[in-house]
Amino acid sequence: MGDSKKNMPAGRGDIANPFENQKTKKTAEQLQVLAAQGVEGFWGEMSKGISWFKEWDTVLDESQAASYHWTWFNGGKLNAAYNCLDRHVTGWRKNKAAIIFEGELGDSRVLTYQDLYREVNKLASALKKMGVKREDIVTIYLPMIPETVIAMLACARVGVPHSVVFGGFSAGGLKERINDSSSKILITADGGFRRGKPVPLKDNADLALENDGCPSIEKVIVVKRAGQPVYMEPGRDVWYADLMENADLYCEPEVMDAEDPLFILYSSGTTGKPKGILHTTGGYMVGVQSTFKYVFDCQEEDIYWCTADIGWITGHSYLVYGPLANGATSVLYEGGPDYPARDRLWKIIEKYRVSIFYTAPTLVRLLMRWGEEWPASCDLSSLRLLSSVGEPINPEAWLWFFKHIGGERCPLVDTWWQTETGMHLITPLPGDDWFRPGAATRAFPGVEVAVFNEQGEPVKPGEQGFLVITKPWPAMLRTLYNDPDRYLTTYWQQFEGVYLSGDGAMVDEDGLIWVTGRLDDVINVSGHRIGTAEIESALLEHGEVAEAAVIGKKHDLKGQAVCAFVTLRIGAQGSAELVTDLKQLVVNKIGALARPEDIIFISELPKTRSGKIMRRLLRDIAEGKVLGDTSTLMDPAVINAIKKSY
Ligand code: WTA
Repeated sequence: MGDSKKNMPAGRGDIANPFENQKTKKTAEQLQVLAAQGVEGFWGEMSKGISWFKEWDTVLDESQAASYHWTWFNGGKLNAAYNCLDRHVTGWRKNKAAIIFEGELGDSRVLTYQDLYREVNKLASALKKMGVKREDIVTIYLPMIPETVIAMLACARVGVPHSVVFGGFSAGGLKERINDSSSKILITADGGFRRGKPVPLKDNADLALENDGCPSIEKVIVVKRAGQPVYMEPGRDVWYADLMENADLYCEPEVMDAEDPLFILYSSGTTGKPKGILHTTGGYMVGVQSTFKYVFDCQEEDIYWCTADIGWITGHSYLVYGPLANGATSVLYEGGPDYPARDRLWKIIEKYRVSIFYTAPTLVRLLMRWGEEWPASCDLSSLRLLSSVGEPINPEAWLWFFKHIGGERCPLVDTWWQTETGMHLITPLPGDDWFRPGAATRAFPGVEVAVFNEQGEPVKPGEQGFLVITKPWPAMLRTLYNDPDRYLTTYWQQFEGVYLSGDGAMVDEDGLIWVTGRLDDVINVSGHRIGTAEIESALLEHGEVAEAAVIGKKHDLKGQAVCAFVTLRIGAQGSAELVTDLKQLVVNKIGALARPEDIIFISELPKTRSGKIMRRLLRDIAEGKVLGDTSTLMDPAVINAIKKSY
């Protein structure tokens, strides 16, 4: 390991892997050896983790590379639901738990692989009877309940792409997504629970659909979850239970081409309109099956829990397709972390003896803020592997997670990837000898990444640059639905034929990757580029700071000035002394160029419903601009509160 360099992110220092497991170590080494055979050799081998109705002819077809299109496993035939279910129910796994559902109210349901297989077959038969065809798209707008998984797999079984819309979206968000995809069928629920109260999903759907708002929708299937009274439009709306009552127990899985679409998932871009990211069947399944298996070292007896919502890519890849393709047992939790109390997550780990726990830094920091007495009061000894995703994990949160949740006994793998990438691309492996808190470290074997400067050359160690993927990978997005030009310009044209992630990153002197955040979050102060995540990380090292969001504010002389919005831990008070201390902390950790011009104490940061800090809004507030789109904001009241403190 090289020495600590002053321009490296704060908190650097390696942690030896506490997980003495020769087998895992050997697996990591074997994967690296396999990767040395090149992209095709590696992924050809990985494709053996999937059951093909017909073997593929070529691993990767680059014949359309000039127009930025690549295809994987051409000639291969498969079905994603078959891979998640049918191949498990022929043997003993049919009695294994596929999903352990924990409702927010404390209700619990276990679905074995056989149960899930039956339910999926029934819904698939019902969808077919409704006349759903391959060229249709089914929109799924449901809470975190088993029926969401059933609906996705039923679509996959009949070969119809699904478009899952996160249950936290409003009627407007749902409407925009339904209309962009011209969905004919909507699957929703009478409600889900959040903080003990029902969320009115069907009412939102009715609002989206009223006055012919979504003209493509022909049928609405309604799952009963919350027991709320809902309006049922005659001829259009049908109860899920009624549909399932007489449905056939078996529905032949459609034989899909490897390149047939599996789903679209909308994601926010830099412009207002959401991007419909399209994934296909073969490459996606190979990508998620293999990364789930190797990144989480999932064994037959593990109980795996991913806290992400199914409405986001993490839920798709690592709650549904990845775990189920591996025959794993997943916990599916409907609610929030503090209902009825702040130890809810730890109680769930204790109750089900969860062994692999996958969550997001934003949640880790929240839990950290609540204090370690909550996890300390629960038995977390079943945990053996931790993982993080969604944003750079600051070293302080990494270390807290590692120590207070993992008991310094569990490897902590920080996985970098995106809706577009479909699967993990940069991550340590659990068999690595050590971890570097705060760094996603290196590419998964078979994946080639680089950090480029503006000219498209690899940067020198310690310099910031554009995080790019230089070779295609199997679960890569194939296009943006309805927007093929945007697909080209957003991802492939800045550096001809190289995938632009939109993130900034830095390579350290050991060649390891530190993701610094979205490029629109990288700021330029007097010609120096600084990652906002880096400054935040430094601020978070202060014992009184709970969360920090840093933005670049227009500055006459410097171009941009650093402006930090900070929330404090319970009991701490904002003061002039604290402002001075925090500024000095940043100067000490990074350098004078990163010194914040303003530090503003606020009670809560504005976040999207998926938990990402909306820095764009903070920038607008700091610059006194008219606020941009706030439709994805979790709690709009936060904005007014911040405006008052500013
Ligand atoms: C960020 C979520 C640093 C990054 C899977 C990326 C991360 C965006 C990490 C994609 C990580 C995700 N370290 N940053 N481990 N994981 N990101 O599409 O900015 O919701 O571009 O996919 O999240 O977010 P998305």
